[in-house]
Amino acid sequence: MKLPVNLIEAELTLFEKKFKDAARSNVFMLDRIMRYVVKRKGKQIRPMFVFLAAKLCGKVNETTYRAASLVELLHTATLVHDDVVDDSPERRGFFSVYALWKNKISVLVGDYLLAKGLLLSLDNDDFEILKLLSDAVRKMSEGELLQMEKSRSLNLDEDVYLEIIRNKTASLLAAACGAGAWSVTGDKEITRKMQLFGEKVGIAFQIKDDLFDYTSQDIGKPTGNDIKEKKLTMPLIYTLNNTDRKKRRELIYIIKNENTRKDKIAYIVDEVVKAGGIDYTVERMKAYKQEALSILHSFPPSETRDGFEDLVNFVTDRKY
Ligand code: IPE
Ligand code: IPE
Ligand code: MG
Ligand code: MG
Repeated sequence: MKLPVNLIEAELTLFEKKFKDAARSNVFMLDRIMRYVVKRKGKQIRPMFVFLAAKLCGKVNETTYRAASLVELLHTATLVHDDVVDDSPERRGFFSVYALWKNKISVLVGDYLLAKGLLLSLDNDDFEILKLLSDAVRKMSEGELLQMEKSRSLNLDEDVYLEIIRNKTASLLAAACGAGAWSVTGDKEITRKMQLFGEKVGIAFQIKDDLFDYTSQDIGKPTGNDIKEKKLTMPLIYTLNNTDRKKRRELIYIIKNENTRKDKIAYIVDEVVKAGGIDYTVERMKAYKQEALSILHSFPPSETRDGFEDLVNFVTDRKY
């Protein structure tokens, strides 16, 4: 399934140039790493949400472009750090910064991207947008930390899982949609509504990402990594809560003690599929998507709204 981008093609082309400039450095080594990071671009789904939210609520302007760059800079920063935290060697189909340059450089590169984002907003007095995004970054850190805490004690509570993903992932998509709307309206109420829409999409987005961990598809990053890191996500939480005690104890033993063995991870995946954990999770994901669509449908019908709907569908139907 391809990304539905025809509506915002011109915006995205210009965005890429601006984003590249925003990530530059005068320090040779840093610039080399920045070029590596920018070249291995991802789906750029968050900038798309910024532009479509802006288009839905008004007319794209320079502030919209800066909001899109800020969002992607922050996203990239968190991915560079996330691969350190998750000990993950692959990102976007190639070596992660962490795999190539290790911990110390990854920490500094992430910080640099964050600082570049902050400056881009501050140099242009985009205070409201910076506030929206800074709040999201705070939540992302809280979400990743809560996840770490819960991976030590093995979280079996679905509400806690949802709280984690709302913070670590949905907050940024919510801010992206809010920033897009704010950039063209300056209206608090519309911004709030688009944030809520983005939050629903974001939850569906992370559920989909967590589902990938249970497949063996090539998605440009490792699969099976969550179990290895003792991250219990919805499919496994459901399975553990809906199986007999013996099986549950056996699975928990593997997660705690044999989580680096490929054959054991494959066994867990098998059990999750058998228990209906994948089907259950897909349904929950679709429900969040539906909630997002119903917010979208409160806007009058338009070409932009249809394109937006395609993007929301891409989030749950994507193959990478
Ligand atoms: C990855 O996000 C991090 C998550 C929140 C799951 P994306 O899947 O959007 O990553 P890229 O930017 O396309 O690589
Ligand atoms: C999302 O979680 C990461 C962030 C919000 C930074 P994951 O750890 O599942 O993301 P991937 O799978 O590494 O992209
Ligand atoms: Mg990760
Ligand atoms: Mg993941």
